[in-house]
Amino acid sequence: MAGAIFAFSGKGGAGKTTLAAMVLRQLLRVNVKPVLGVDADPNATLALALGVQAGGSIADLRDRMGQAAQEISEIPKERLLDQWLAELLSEEVGFDLLTMGRPEGPRCYCYVNALLRRYLQELRGSYQAVVVDCEAGMEYLSRLTVDDVETLVLVAEATPVGLASARRIAQLADALPVQVHRRVLALNNLGRGGPAEAGAAWPGPDLAQAPQVDATVRVPFDADLYRRCVAGRPIDDSAGAAARPAVEELTGLCLGRPAEAPKSQQKEPIA
Ligand SMILES: Nc1ncnc2c1ncn2[C@@H]1O[C@H](COP(=O)(O)OP(=O)(O)OP(=O)(O)O)[C@@H](O)[C@H]1O
Ligand SMILES: [Mg+2]
Repeated sequence: MAGAIFAFSGKGGAGKTTLAAMVLRQLLRVNVKPVLGVDADPNATLALALGVQAGGSIADLRDRMGQAAQEISEIPKERLLDQWLAELLSEEVGFDLLTMGRPEGPRCYCYVNALLRRYLQELRGSYQAVVVDCEAGMEYLSRLTVDDVETLVLVAEATPVGLASARRIAQLADALPVQVHRRVLALNNLGRGGPAEAGAAWPGPDLAQAPQVDATVRVPFDADLYRRCVAGRPIDDSAGAAARPAVEELTGLCLGRPAEAPKSQQKEPIA
């Protein structure tokens, strides 16, 4: 299980970063640690969501490498690179965070991805789990920096557009030389439309349009999560009580544990 990668993918704004942050915190609560969080979105927001200071990014290393190439040094460039990569980790309680950053120009992605790939392969064995917050859309998957993913979490709103995006991402994952051991669909923001949607009159999402997955989790709209985002307050241990049971279930599925009633929903035995 060491180094198991959980990748969060989906359409823009579907809730990838929010659920990645919630699952990372839940992993720590159930004592799966240490965890490595990887912000693989060039528009990095995972550190912000978790309320931690991001270190430098892998993209920043390009400049440093460029400068080092001009300088004469007794330290081999490879060793310098390893040292700089290690400095990029922002170390928090129970987890570390690594940010890919935004490379300048399309071709630079190859270089940054190659660095991330090499570094991840070296690092992952030191962690119980690696939570990767991916870039929106499908491009990221085709540049995926790892060749085996324990769980691919497809985050989608339960709308025709949301489900179609999730389906396309799942199809792309099929076509790539990436081994995905498990797929979980996280239907996010359920009930956001208010009481009418949550009520009996609402037929609910048409899951016939959903991708083929091993399991589906229904994550409700959680006003606390939304308010925190608006106010710039982080997702800490007290965040998202309404979404917590679904996050517990999602975390269990990521870990390959059989679905069971989340703790916060389990009833006390009748005496
Ligand atoms: N279950 C939820 N309940 C309430 N609000 C949510 C929930 N999930 C996500 N949100 C809100 O939806 C917005 C988008 O979420 P988030 O940033 O996690 O999406 P994303 O998929 O990472 O977006 P991007 O594609 O821009 O990276 C945020 O305001 C977040 O607080
Ligand atoms: Mg995001």
